Amino acid sequence: MTKDPLVVFTPSGKRGRFSPGTPVLTAARQLGVDLDSVCGGRGICSKCQITPSYGDFPKHGVQVSKDALSDWNKVEARYHEKRGLKQGRRLGCQATVQGDVVIDVPPESQVHKQVVRKAATVRDITMDPATRLYYVEVQEPDMHVPNGDLERLQTALAEQWDIGEIRVGLPVLSKVQPALRKGKWAVTVALHRGHDDSHERLLDIWPGYFEGRLYGLAIDLGSTTIAAHLVDLRNGQVIESAGIMNPQIRFGEDLMSRVSYVMMNPGGDVEMTAVVREAINELVGEIARDAGIDPCQIMEAVFVCNPVMHHLLLGIDPVELGQAPFALATSDAMSLQAVELGLAAINRSARVYILPCIAGHVGADAAAVALSEEPYNSKDLALIVDVGTNAEILLGNTERVLACSSPTGPAFEGAQISSGQRAAPGAIEHVEIDPETKEPRFQVVGSDLWSDQDGFDAATRATGITGICGSGIIEVIAEMRMAGLMDPAGLIGSAAQTGTERSVADGRTHAYVLHDGSGSGSDGPVITVTQADVRAIQLAKSALYAGARLLMDEMGVDKVDRVVLAGAFGAHISAKHAMVLGMIPDVPLDKVSSAGNAAGTGARIALCSVKARLQIAEIVKKITKVETAIEPRFQEHFIAATAIPHATETFPNLMQVVDLPDVSFNTGGADGGGGRRRRRRG
Ligand code: FES
Repeated sequence: MTKDPLVVFTPSGKRGRFSPGTPVLTAARQLGVDLDSVCGGRGICSKCQITPSYGDFPKHGVQVSKDALSDWNKVEARYHEKRGLKQGRRLGCQATVQGDVVIDVPPESQVHKQVVRKAATVRDITMDPATRLYYVEVQEPDMHVPNGDLERLQTALAEQWDIGEIRVGLPVLSKVQPALRKGKWAVTVALHRGHDDSHERLLDIWPGYFEGRLYGLAIDLGSTTIAAHLVDLRNGQVIESAGIMNPQIRFGEDLMSRVSYVMMNPGGDVEMTAVVREAINELVGEIARDAGIDPCQIMEAVFVCNPVMHHLLLGIDPVELGQAPFALATSDAMSLQAVELGLAAINRSARVYILPCIAGHVGADAAAVALSEEPYNSKDLALIVDVGTNAEILLGNTERVLACSSPTGPAFEGAQISSGQRAAPGAIEHVEIDPETKEPRFQVVGSDLWSDQDGFDAATRATGITGICGSGIIEVIAEMRMAGLMDPAGLIGSAAQTGTERSVADGRTHAYVLHDGSGSGSDGPVITVTQADVRAIQLAKSALYAGARLLMDEMGVDKVDRVVLAGAFGAHISAKHAMVLGMIPDVPLDKVSSAGNAAGTGARIALCSVKARLQIAEIVKKITKVETAIEPRFQEHFIAATAIPHATETFPNLMQVVDLPDVSFNTGGADGGGGRRRRRRG
């Protein structure tokens, strides 16, 4: 008896025998091979493309002849004529098995495709979106069988896609009848099934086969900035990104001042909820416009935020978060209708998912950082700091993960800094200061040239030199310390003490002139680093360091194996400068890496994968939260950390690569000739 043909799928390696004439899609489904289909094998969607391989495959034990699959049929020929099929490709629902064959399923035909999450660390996410499209053919109504159009749609989904109960909201219910009739009883539906759903929800319906795409938003709602990424829900690609300032700043720059505002002003929470929702709507409108897409195709939004932002987004009074024991209204992940949050700019039936909070002050943003950086999978002891107005800090490895949140204030984001600005073209982002001449050179966002290189003026003419962004302020202050312009206490020396006219008097203190754009007839800004700027950074970095140190105490360690710097500008922070400032504990410089916006990445992962949503719900339960606000050692660590780099800690790894002049510019230390100084190394 001859055996049925053997079908081997790659890359999965799944194999089975099928009788001649079986469509490849059917074989794939029976074997559980991940081969996409929106139209259910009707030759409409083209999502089922496969590539057969011919020849000898000793590895699989098969020889594939040229006639292993059926010839092209009319559907494939028509599709090829209209859209073009790539060389060697077939439609899996049309090609049938005729002989032994090896079939490759290309990544774009896999539902659960792997998407490279971050080029730098080459980690993958597997697509498992909550919202998907299904094409379905529905029975026409029959007077003798008196059921509704929706019920027949449900029956068709059950028969053709094995989909059980679906729930339908009023906005989309009103679209069902016109769509069915316009599509001649064939429609495409968008169905959503979230992490905690026992059923699918009908989010939208289109007549016939819907050619468009579905999108989602990953939104990092920070105290100072709101960043959003528009993501294609088929492949996880970021189509567009945009950010705006959080308008709640006018009620208070940091979280506690916003909570105080609510305490002092009844109804203040309602006001803050309204302005942040309005800003999000504006941002979403802008991002859809820039991407050139219909906002109705945005079906989901995922939010990550700290607990205070979380409550204010949801319209919950945050006062409980302002006092011990810092009780959250809820710490679980949430799945909501977008309209409940006033998100009017996207599909009317769109869903919102909010990551779980870890505890009191440790929010969904820290959970998102954990999802992105996976400290629980790290063999090394990893310290992950997500730098923002509130720093989220995680310390851990495969055995244990600790988390805290530290109130750094907005200085690292350029706020509270006299010449601070966001990282836009024209903002100074990298700085070097010559330790001998004390002359600076710098780079601005938008140009690769240094300010002392030919062509710099021409390259920056359009943008001008407008201010200093977050990474620039870290670098310039660290460079000032390395060049002996500032002492370990953070005091900027006078011109006489430092030997440079760039140190100018500024009231009773001094400032360093980084760039003077006011000369030679131009009226550009004078960009200085003032004593108040240094103080703001000192406070911010001390809070960051003290938080990290507290976690290290809790873990019972004095050093960590590696440090990951994350945050909206985490990708741009220089490891050396961060360590000179004493933002992070001492480690070899090559053990400091940048993760970019890890909270935003975590939001994107949750947007692309229901499995990841289930996973983070489990992970947050295992993370131990450390509350900085009530921990007396936090104050001790904070005070010691105000010195640059630190009053008591030594930085042996750092000292191998930098010199930190031992200068002192307090009143007793001024010697009129550059301060007391000696070079220190090691
Ligand atoms: S499954 Fe839609 S074209 Fe093949």
